[in-house]
Amino acid sequence: MKWMRDLTLPLLLLYCCDLPTPGGPSSWISGIQADDSPNEVTYNVKVDLSASVHEIGGRFLSMSFPAKYIPVQWYVQYCWTEKLQNLASALSPADIRVLGKFQHFCPDQNVEPSKIQGRSPNAGAPQDPCKNKEVGSDFVLRGNQWQIFNANVAKVGWSLLLGFENTKRKADGSWDSSLAELLLNYSSSKDIPIGYFHLGNEPNLYPVHIRLTITPKTLVEDYKTLRRLVAKYSLYAASKLYGPDVTTLDKHSTARNYLTHYYCKNNASMEEFLNLSSLESLRSSIEIGKTLVQVTTNPLPLILSETSSCAGGGAPNLSGRYLAGFLWLDKLGLSAVYGVKQVFRQSFFSGAAYSLVLISDTTPQPDYYLSVLYKRLVEGPVFRVNLNPSNQKLRVYANCAKQGKYTPGDLVIYYLNLEEIPAILSLDQFQDADLDLYMLTPGDSEGIKSREVKLRGNPRVAAQSFFFPLFFPGFF
Ligand SMILES: *[C@@H]1O[C@H](CO)[C@@H](O)[C@H](O)[C@H]1NC(C)=O
Ligand SMILES: *[C@@H]1O[C@H](CO)[C@@H](O)[C@H](O)[C@H]1NC(C)=O
Ligand SMILES: *[C@@H]1O[C@H](CO)[C@@H](O)[C@H](O)[C@H]1NC(C)=O
Ligand SMILES: *[C@@H]1O[C@H](CO)[C@@H](O)[C@H](O)[C@H]1NC(C)=O
Repeated sequence: MKWMRDLTLPLLLLYCCDLPTPGGPSSWISGIQADDSPNEVTYNVKVDLSASVHEIGGRFLSMSFPAKYIPVQWYVQYCWTEKLQNLASALSPADIRVLGKFQHFCPDQNVEPSKIQGRSPNAGAPQDPCKNKEVGSDFVLRGNQWQIFNANVAKVGWSLLLGFENTKRKADGSWDSSLAELLLNYSSSKDIPIGYFHLGNEPNLYPVHIRLTITPKTLVEDYKTLRRLVAKYSLYAASKLYGPDVTTLDKHSTARNYLTHYYCKNNASMEEFLNLSSLESLRSSIEIGKTLVQVTTNPLPLILSETSSCAGGGAPNLSGRYLAGFLWLDKLGLSAVYGVKQVFRQSFFSGAAYSLVLISDTTPQPDYYLSVLYKRLVEGPVFRVNLNPSNQKLRVYANCAKQGKYTPGDLVIYYLNLEEIPAILSLDQFQDADLDLYMLTPGDSEGIKSREVKLRGNPRVAAQSFFFPLFFPGFF
C-alpha cells in the first residue's frame, strides 16, 4: 500500500461500510498501516478498463418526496429554511419525484399562515375544501403552496418529476384528468417548469388497496390522455412521460420499467440489513426488469422510481442509522452496473425512518452524507470489477470520478465489506496512482447503529473545502 503515502491524485476511494471488528482497526486503516491482523484477507482488485458497461448521469441519484407535506402550512412556512436549502443544494443536480395525491387544487387561494400553522400532516379533509381556508388538509393544495414548493425546488437546482393520480375515473371508466389539467393550467401560468410526468402510483396494488382494477390496456389509454393533455402547453409539450410503475417484479410480471424497490418491511431486523440475500434480491429484481423491457419493441431504461431500505416508512432505529449505508451504497453500485437510469431515494425529507433528512429538526441521517459523497465523486462511465479471491460479501464498484474537482482519467472505487473480518484491497493495477480516501465510519457510541457518521480521509481530502457549506459531524 505504499502508494497511499503520496497524496496527490488521481484514484479515489469511497468507502462505506464495514462491520466493526472488536477492538481492531478498520480495514483501510489496517491496510494503510500494514498492521497485519491474523484474520484479514487481501483481495486483488482488477478493474476492467477496456470498456465501460454503462454510464451514469449527474441525476442518477435523485429524490422522492411525499407530496402530503406540500399542502401543510408548517411545511411551507418553516421547512425550507436556509439549512434545508443548503442540504438540498448539496445533492443537486437531481430530480425530485412528487406524487400529486391531492384531491383538490385551489389555484386562487393562498394560505394564510397564521390560521393553520402547526397542523399535523394527518389532519382530516374539510367538507368544502376550497372555501374553508381555516382547515389545512393534506389533500387540498393551494396556489401559493405549490408555487413556494416549486420556487424552492428551482432554487436548490432540482427538477420536478410530477406524478398524477389516476384513481379518479369517469362514468365510462376513463381517467378523469380534470385535476391534472387544473394544476397544469396554474403551473404553466406561473412558468413552473416540469420536465417529467408520470401517471398512477403503483397501479398493480389498486385492486388490494382501493378495489380498483386498471388493466394494462386502460393504463395505456390513460397515458395517451396524459400525453394529449401535456401537449396542450408549450411549456410541457416536450416534457417526458415516465412509467408505468410497479411495486415488485417476479417472473410472472409483465413488461414494466419503473420499479419500486425495498429490501425489507418496516419490522426488519438488523440481520436483514447485513444479509447478503437482501443485497442480492435487488440483482434478481433488476435482472427480471431488464429481461422484460428487452422484449418490447422500444426498450426503455429501467428506473428505480421509489426506493429505500425497508418499506412502510423504514425500520425504526435501523433505516436512519449507519448500517443502512450497506444497502444504499450497494443499491447505487448494482444499479449503475446494470444500467438502471435513475434511482429515486425515498425520501429526501419526511418523518419516516429512512429519510435522508428528518423533518422533526432538519437533521441529516447517515445516508444523507453517503448520498452527498456519491453525488460529488461518482459520475460517468461504469466499469466491471473482478476480485481475487472472489467474495460476494466484499462488494466493490468502479466508476469514473465526477469531473470538476477531479479530471478525466480519474477513477473512483467504492466498496462495502459485509464480512466480519477486515478486507485489504490490493490495487496493483494502479501502483503508480495517488489516492484520495473518503471513508464513512460510525460516528457515535452506538457503533454500526450510529446516528452520526464520520468522514475520514487522508489529509488532502480533509484540507480542502470540497463540502462547503456542509460540515460533516466528524472529519479528519
Ligand atoms: C385550463 O385552461 C383551459 C384554457 O384556458 C380551459 O379551457 C380549461 O377549462 C382549464 N381547465 C380547468 C380544469 O380549469
Ligand atoms: C414482518 O411483517 C410481515 C407482515 O407484514 C411478516 O410476514 C413478517 O414475518 C414480519 N417479519 C418479522 C421479522 O417480524
Ligand atoms: C439471510 O436471508 C436468507 C433469505 O431470507 C435466510 O435464509 C438466511 O437465514 C439469512 N441469514 C441470516 C444470517 O440471517
Ligand atoms: C427505537 O429506539 C427507541 C429509543 O432507544 C426505543 O424506545 C424504541 O423502542 C426502539 N424501537 C424499536 C422498534 O426498536
